[in-house]
Amino acid sequence: MDGKNVSVALDVGTTKVCTTIGFQDEDGIEILGVGSHPSYGLKKGSVVNIDKTVKSIRCSLEEAKMMAGVEDITSATIGIAGNHIYCFNSSGVVAVKNSEITQKDVDRVLEAAKAVLIPSDREVLHVIPQEFRVDSTKGVKNPIGMCGSRLEAHVHVVTGKTSLIQNILKCVEASGIKPNDIILQPIASSRSVLTAEEKDLGVVLIDIGGGTTDIAVWKGGSLIHSQIVPVGGNHFTNDLAVALKIPHNEAERVKINHGSVLAEKLNQSAHITVHGLSGTKAREVQLGEVAKVLGARAEELFVIVKNIVKDKNLSDLVTGGYIITGGGALIKDLAELGEYILEKPTKVGYPRPFGGMTTIMQNPKFSTVLGLLLESSPENMGKTYKKKNNKSASEALESGDIFGRFSDSLRNVFKEIF
Ligand SMILES: Nc1ncnc2c1ncn2[C@@H]1O[C@H](COP(=O)(O)OP(=O)(O)OP(=O)(O)O)[C@@H](O)[C@H]1O
Ligand SMILES: [Mg+2]
Repeated sequence: MDGKNVSVALDVGTTKVCTTIGFQDEDGIEILGVGSHPSYGLKKGSVVNIDKTVKSIRCSLEEAKMMAGVEDITSATIGIAGNHIYCFNSSGVVAVKNSEITQKDVDRVLEAAKAVLIPSDREVLHVIPQEFRVDSTKGVKNPIGMCGSRLEAHVHVVTGKTSLIQNILKCVEASGIKPNDIILQPIASSRSVLTAEEKDLGVVLIDIGGGTTDIAVWKGGSLIHSQIVPVGGNHFTNDLAVALKIPHNEAERVKINHGSVLAEKLNQSAHITVHGLSGTKAREVQLGEVAKVLGARAEELFVIVKNIVKDKNLSDLVTGGYIITGGGALIKDLAELGEYILEKPTKVGYPRPFGGMTTIMQNPKFSTVLGLLLESSPENMGKTYKKKNNKSASEALESGDIFGRFSDSLRNVFKEIF
């Protein structure tokens, strides 16, 4: 096996840290190894305990390495989320130098588009082109080689809090891994779940994780909005724990084994046995009661998503409806309730199958890590947000310039997109 063709993705989530090791050949990517370990060091997508996070990363990495039979893993593509992420759209215009548009003109217009004031405690993570306009021609994806005198770029800018990005990078570095790329989690999930047709038609991806729900709105093949909502599957579990007066792990068991968000679809009189704190008697609760608690939280979450889409004036663009993924999408009847509240077609989105271990990985909770793997594959080199210089994150850390690698690469991202 050629080490050059091996790529690694690391999804450091609120409930689990997941590593996948893939091998790329002419037939595509084959998954060689997967490691998934409970995560105890994150809250709402952000690191709150470095030691616990490092331990979870190491465990998931070891598991994946053992399964893949790969000894030395030195770098990986990392996902990022958390409610510190803030995204916005921007645009810029330049005059074309010699009537035919070159890479240099594209670089200049992208520089102009991202020349917005960003608070000093924030970093730009992605600058994603939505469309170019050449004179009066709109909707151009790649303007290089076209003739014109005026070039306009519309972009989606993703920013995150410097200190919180540093924390996640620190944990990855401390686990012996160089982050070779850092990607917003809903962008990664979109990559593994959505088809080109869906992105073109207009859809909203809703990735319900443990601590956050990540939203990505696509139209005309471009990302037009992304946002992290600090409500996730753990909130469903907490609600159940409070309502039924049971411990968190028992509430999690009830949610996974007996949970639904539509009480009307259940046999209302059916009961389940739940266990309270040790020393207390087991009790019977109605399934309908469980569904009412979970349904109320699901309704609240869908209303938040609906309002985001409405407030951004995107409702009419979402022709294809809503696609729910992430582990939180697995609660029974969620898509049905979603369709009722969101008033658009709604379905659960599974990652597209690719070679090796397809059945285990075809679970919405692996959408992000599989998307990260697709983004990190050698075939993708040069198309996405790859590093610009050869400085590793550890070297950057040592030199006190943690973003020596990322900000440089991401701020100049477009040189590598085309
Ligand atoms: N079968 C299931 N039924 C219902 N909920 C489930 C099921 N499996 C997992 N979940 C829920 O999915 C959530 C975890 O999802 P996921 O693994 O996508 O999160 P994460 O990536 O660790 O977190 P985040 O993306 O928020 O940082 C948990 O709240 C868990 O209870
Ligand atoms: Mg996640």
